[in-house]
Amino acid sequence: MRLQGKTAVITGGAGGIGWAAVRLFLAHGAQVVAADFNGEAGRNLIETLEESKRPQVRFIETDVSDESSVQALIESVIAEYGCIDILINNAGITRDAMLSKMTTEQWKQVIDVNLSGVYYCTKHAAPHMTARGQGKIINTSSIVGLQGNLGQTNYAAAKAGVIGMTKTWARELGYKGVCVNAVAPGFIATEMVAKMPEKVVSAMSEKVPLRRLGLPEDVAEAYLYLASDAANYVNGTVLEVNGGLNI
Ligand code: NAI
Repeated sequence: MRLQGKTAVITGGAGGIGWAAVRLFLAHGAQVVAADFNGEAGRNLIETLEESKRPQVRFIETDVSDESSVQALIESVIAEYGCIDILINNAGITRDAMLSKMTTEQWKQVIDVNLSGVYYCTKHAAPHMTARGQGKIINTSSIVGLQGNLGQTNYAAAKAGVIGMTKTWARELGYKGVCVNAVAPGFIATEMVAKMPEKVVSAMSEKVPLRRLGLPEDVAEAYLYLASDAANYVNGTVLEVNGGLNI
């Protein structure tokens, strides 16, 4: 019960990693608001929880790339719970293409969700944390933000940008009691990776010293650590969860 009494907002809460985080945070006693673009998936997932857990979680349909939608999310959380202890900026998309084929639309979509979405959520949640002198913000970057990747100009730019924002906010918010960190997953078995050609995925797994893709739960455990009191002196770091792929 490492998050007993805490209120956590998890964006992309209906996706592979996000839903694993929702379940883990519930198991550790948090009140969880799962925010996701995909309302139907979110509502269906909540139905799969055991009944005793359902009052602990609320699903709010949100588009993190739309500032007014984010504002409505944060206002609704504050109205219902009175505070936000933990923000997990986990929502993300891919729109892959090699540079020569990438469209401006693909570029903008990924930047809007993966970079601006993190900015909007933090911009509107952080004042509620600094006002109380406490809070944990965890941003989701990627190994691609550290290494780049073929066909992912947009995604690599956004995920590298997330690391820049994490370090900036760790400085700006740290002395106000708020810790800001990032998790950089490697290749994790979710829808996002399922969209990639099987040959590419198995070649990637071969390169991982642990010789497997990560599980959504592997990343959720990293979120839990950074969100918990165990990480109270951890600020501005990028926790890599990639089986050793970036050694
Ligand atoms: P996923 O595709 O399973 O889930 C992403 C979730 O984000 C979906 O439920 C989707 O509806 C939601 N979402 C998309 N656009 C949104 C928007 N505008 N507003 C609100 N919600 C939105 O992806 P996965 O794998 O769970 O990814 C979670 C995070 O982890 C993402 O930020 C991703 O970039 C990052 N990541 C994933 C890796 C992987 O290998 N799966 C590797 C490195 C990072």
